[in-house]
Amino acid sequence: EKESSLRPGTLDEYIGQQSLKDNLRVFIQAARSRNEALDHVLLYGPPGLGKTTLAYILAREMGGQLRMASGPAIEKSGDLAAILSTIEPGDVLFIDEIHRLPRQVEEILYPAMEDYCLDIVVGKDAGVHTIRLSLPPFTLVGATTRAGDLSAPLRDRFGIVSQLEYYGLPELEKIVDRTSRVMNTDTEPGARREIARRSRGTPRIANRLFRRVRDFAQVFNDGFVTEDIAREALDRLKVDHMGLDSVDYRYLTGLIDRFQGGPAGLEALAASIGEESTTLEDMYEPYLLQIGFINRTPRGRVATPRAYAHLGRKGDDGCQNQS
Ligand code: ADE
Repeated sequence: EKESSLRPGTLDEYIGQQSLKDNLRVFIQAARSRNEALDHVLLYGPPGLGKTTLAYILAREMGGQLRMASGPAIEKSGDLAAILSTIEPGDVLFIDEIHRLPRQVEEILYPAMEDYCLDIVVGKDAGVHTIRLSLPPFTLVGATTRAGDLSAPLRDRFGIVSQLEYYGLPELEKIVDRTSRVMNTDTEPGARREIARRSRGTPRIANRLFRRVRDFAQVFNDGFVTEDIAREALDRLKVDHMGLDSVDYRYLTGLIDRFQGGPAGLEALAASIGEESTTLEDMYEPYLLQIGFINRTPRGRVATPRAYAHLGRKGDDGCQNQS
């Protein structure tokens, strides 16, 4: 029942992202047969789509350990050197939010990625010099929500660059089905469909909603997750039938009511609803863009007719005959 068993351990168990999986299988098999480390992998896309899970799977499939780190937590080059010096052959070093690595740290990473070398600065003043240590062959897996924020030299050092995509309904239903089996919970197909529909294409959200729905089922229905229980639980959680939550509602009503549907600058909109602009940009806007509820224009964010319709508002329908 732990998080660790929820996480698939092999590519075969990992649902969705089919073309990425097919390619990774080839790269893994080739690297293994050459007895080399897998080339460095950059995964980008919205949060919750399984970047960490894939890093874990890559480590397992390559027979190494996963070492986890995150960009903002590695403040000094010494922090990275300390991590790199514990790496063993075939290990996967996972750096989450790699776009937030400080620049001097990034520079240590270049020779480590290219030549498996670690350059350390020692001594001071006139005696300062670098010593070069060799590292075992390893794979860096970098994850970012924003590939565009990565420096070009860093991005260019990844041999495999891939975008994770939002999951379709059938895939999310399979993920919920797998989760319910891992958690020994009986579910109706309609309940799985309802959870999948409201998960904004995101396994992490599907699994979170599943746990909450299961709580309701446990208290009100001896643990059996029916479609009715799922509906009621999800309504009570204020997740609507498209998966929009209260932050999405505040975003859209803020854009429509305070900025007349836009264009509105992200900072102004964020301030008006009391959210961080980066939270909105990384976690909320990608899905609203994907379902066509907002557009990004050079002058700011704009609510689309679809958003007005979803909120039951009259507004700009894109036609010229408005009253
Ligand atoms: N749990 C979370 N994401 C998953 C995925 N893509 N496949 C299987 N189980 C998952």
